[in-house]
Amino acid sequence: MYVILFGAPGVGKGTQAVLLAEKTGLSHITTGELFREAIRQETELGKQAKVYYDRGQLVPDHFTIAMLLERLSKGDCADGCILDGFPRTLEQAAALDEALVREGRVIDKVVYIQAPEGELLSRLSGRWSCRQCGSVYHERFQPPREAGRCDQCGGELYQREDDKPETARRRLEVYAQQTAPLIDYYRERGKLLEIDGDKSVEEVAENLLAAVEGS
Ligand code: AP5
Repeated sequence: MYVILFGAPGVGKGTQAVLLAEKTGLSHITTGELFREAIRQETELGKQAKVYYDRGQLVPDHFTIAMLLERLSKGDCADGCILDGFPRTLEQAAALDEALVREGRVIDKVVYIQAPEGELLSRLSGRWSCRQCGSVYHERFQPPREAGRCDQCGGELYQREDDKPETARRRLEVYAQQTAPLIDYYRERGKLLEIDGDKSVEEVAENLLAAVEGS
């Protein structure tokens, strides 16, 4: 099964994708993390992506599509995966559909998670991520057991540069302009399921699983 988790920055896609991956056994593919890894490793792609990433803008489609399709060609995605943060433009959505159709596959479900803007900004401003394994925490809503340390691997927690208020606001604007049109794209194709993300992590996870498992 190919599932897309869709929604604005900070709505909880990454948090929910990890939980859904544990429950379904599907791989979790996140373009944000692929870019962060390329930036950390200072690869050619990382150097190009950093310019856009730091400004809260989308990395151009040709880089993003090539990176995602390369990841999707790996064995762990042969029977499906959870896509988090991709697609984010109509061009990316069309490229994904074409690539899957060539392999006789399709996107099964697109789950659109929603929360009010004030909640998104407060989630982004309080987010801490693990440098080592990428696990995500929130200083109030999901605090780690020990401040500054990851519960999973003991790695150091840090705040993402693009979560600073000005860049976070920019990302929300970019989402509204360039990514929100995908809601209609998937609705017209009968793929879109909507869930309320303005609930506890556990409640959202339960509703997400029901949406994905429902026929
Ligand atoms: P990316 O990393 O994908 O950022 P994003 O989509 O903006 O999403 P976030 O990671 O900010 O939020 P999330 O929805 O995953 O929320 P999370 O679960 O962490 O992209 C970063 C950049 O990479 C982009 O700006 C762009 O430059 C580039 N990029 C990536 N993909 C691209 C693409 N396809 N095309 C072009 N460029 C691309 O939760 C947030 C916080 O809230 C956490 O602290 C968490 O603990 C907390 N939380 C989660 N759920 C709840 C809840 N229910 N209640 C309370 N707190 C909660």
